[in-house]
Amino acid sequence: MGEPVEIDTGQADQREVYDALRARCPVVHEDGAWVVLRHAEVVAAATDPDTFSSAASTRRAIPNSLDGAEHAAYRAVVDRYLTSERVAREEPQCRAHAAAIIDALPRDATVKTIGGIGVPYAVRSQSAWLGWPAALEDELVAWMQDNHAATRSGDRARTAEVADRFDRMIHDLLDQRRGRPSADVTGELLGETVDGRPLTDDEIVSILRNWTAGDLGSLATSVGVIVHFLAARPAVQHEVRALVAAGDRAGVEAAVEEILRIDDPFVANRRVTTRAVELGGEAIAAGDRILLNWTAANRDPLVFGEPDDYDPVGHAADNLVFGIGPHVCPGRELTLMELRVVVEELLGRTTWIEPAPDRPAVRETPPVGGWARVPVVLR
Ligand code: HEM
Repeated sequence: MGEPVEIDTGQADQREVYDALRARCPVVHEDGAWVVLRHAEVVAAATDPDTFSSAASTRRAIPNSLDGAEHAAYRAVVDRYLTSERVAREEPQCRAHAAAIIDALPRDATVKTIGGIGVPYAVRSQSAWLGWPAALEDELVAWMQDNHAATRSGDRARTAEVADRFDRMIHDLLDQRRGRPSADVTGELLGETVDGRPLTDDEIVSILRNWTAGDLGSLATSVGVIVHFLAARPAVQHEVRALVAAGDRAGVEAAVEEILRIDDPFVANRRVTTRAVELGGEAIAAGDRILLNWTAANRDPLVFGEPDDYDPVGHAADNLVFGIGPHVCPGRELTLMELRVVVEELLGRTTWIEPAPDRPAVRETPPVGGWARVPVVLR
């Protein structure tokens, strides 16, 4: 998912802060980086990789931190695992996981959306896709929580330690798998080549770390955002229920993408300039740090009018939830399928979802986006 960067605004709902900032200036300088807030400037920077390089972090991430021909070579490998055909193959397993998780939840009582639905759904779907043993499930859940806590703490050393722990976990897994060919994604990656030579273990671990961070973290968080939105906006819930009842898969996926546009939990990605450039009226020097703020750009009134207006069809072409340009998310189709399936099963197995009367939803602690707790009642 592109080494997400979350910006600490110290506010309960970061979106309000970004909205206010963006109204004043399209690009602001904060904590040593240029934060790009307006839609036009985010698109301009994301689609000009020669000027806005992705080699912005100390850790080499495949393919996220690569540029040019090197990026294209590794990106071709990643894309092979995320084709429409492969995504379609995963759907029955995802549906079975979603159905089992939702059926096990009580009705007419408060349930936890993220811990009760989002996290187990993300971990089980991911493990099935990658061919990882069920025994790894608890370790992955614990890792996901630690990773989130480390991001929230803003402590880089702690974040690096958590990343290293993931690397060790996956290196062990690769060691166990080597020499025992299997037909799943992890087995295939072990036989993968780039420029005519096998991928190194470090490269495979880097690829898997990005997929896992994308799938586990963003998927669980997205479930929270979507369920919160459906519970809080009854007219939208009615509309999405009608789409599910009609079997309109494209309609449900468009709804999911529009809800994530309005409340985009995947906040920002880094770039570094390769030359002096002007952006949004600011003179930016070569080597300056840049943050493309997707959450802010996705609520730009110059493009979307009133940002909270829900219009899946009208807003689709400008939606930046999955980015734009050469690094546009290769996991978009997989994510939309996974989120559509969990929404279909959730709405198909309930008559209504409402906010819990006894406990309010709680925003994530910035710099993490989305919601920490979304208590709801399923009817
Ligand atoms: C709600 C879920 C997700 C969101 C919102 C999301 C969003 C994004 C965005 C905005 C980017 C662009 C980054 C940039 O320009 O620097 C990106 C890149 C990426 N995403 Fe996702 N993503 C999600 C899920 C996933 C999943 C499930 C996978 C894989 C299984 C994935 C794999 C990646 C990879 C590998 C990149 C880097 C691509 C490159 O550098 O060429 N993402 N994602």
